[in-house]
Amino acid sequence: MMKTIAIVATGGTIAGTGQHGKTVAYHAGEMDVNELVHSIPMINNIANIECYQLMNVDSNEMKPEYWMSLSTTINELVEQEHIDGIVVTHGTDTFDETAYYLTLTLNTEKPVVLTGAMRPATATSADGPYNLYQAVCLAACQEAYGQGVMGLFSNTIYSGRDIQKVNNYKIDAFDQKSFGCLGYMQDDEVYFFTKTFKKHTYQSQFSKTTYTTLPEVAIAYFYAGASSQILYDLAKYNEGIVIVGSGNGNYSQDWLKAINELSKQGIVFVRASRVSQGIVFDDKVFDPYQYCIGANTLSAQKARVLLMLALTQTKDKKQIGVIFNEY
Ligand code: SIN
Repeated sequence: MMKTIAIVATGGTIAGTGQHGKTVAYHAGEMDVNELVHSIPMINNIANIECYQLMNVDSNEMKPEYWMSLSTTINELVEQEHIDGIVVTHGTDTFDETAYYLTLTLNTEKPVVLTGAMRPATATSADGPYNLYQAVCLAACQEAYGQGVMGLFSNTIYSGRDIQKVNNYKIDAFDQKSFGCLGYMQDDEVYFFTKTFKKHTYQSQFSKTTYTTLPEVAIAYFYAGASSQILYDLAKYNEGIVIVGSGNGNYSQDWLKAINELSKQGIVFVRASRVSQGIVFDDKVFDPYQYCIGANTLSAQKARVLLMLALTQTKDKKQIGVIFNEY
């Protein structure tokens, strides 16, 4: 029997329109999802499609309220027995953040696949229709069951935890760096090679709650000569701060002093790195009193997502440290 896949559209370049044939000077999030699906007739040979236009925005307009609404919508859709999998269309710019938020908050074993495009729907050789076709094939694939949230671009399957945008110009714009990818696709065929060992979706302690608000967490980028005033200012409006440090999540003595002071006042700090590969462990030199939590292999923006959710459950640094190891 043919499976049923729900496509939840949020906008992005995949739904972008501009001058016919051109790839630049277009507006993201303009085309209706039904029109997009209509342009890919082969999709109807793969699954019964149900379309939901939840929003139609450039993903730079995404915010926690939209993540929460998207997560709640998907959690409701997967409750419906006849729906076998979900595809989300999304802009590529903040794709990684939404993918990780959904990884942590969806309570389902059904496949959830995010996709998008680097070229607008009106461009010559737009990449969106093929990505969307493959995303539907992946969401309808039995092997994808229980694999958590995935990203699909250019024949490649990525995990929602590890996917990063690594190129702002080319069509092959995504990667998971040291972690390779979960698998490949050839047209409608799915080839899995690896799986994530980190907790996700139905295993996640954050997927049993419907969130309506999230704690404020900011990101502070360290650079040579950066003033620690940045941290004092951010601490006025945020419960947590993710530091994008140099090297192993490092910073100056001036920042260390500010971190120590603000930690004592209850601000929770996570150390991430501005280097795109590697792992940030706890560090006795740059964090002698163990005030900070290492971001592990998460980028700063993904560490922020996890810290926001962690802070809904605890402010205890040891417990948050355990969470950062598990997810
Ligand atoms: C966006 O993120 O919505 C615009 C850019 C893109 O989708 O590639």
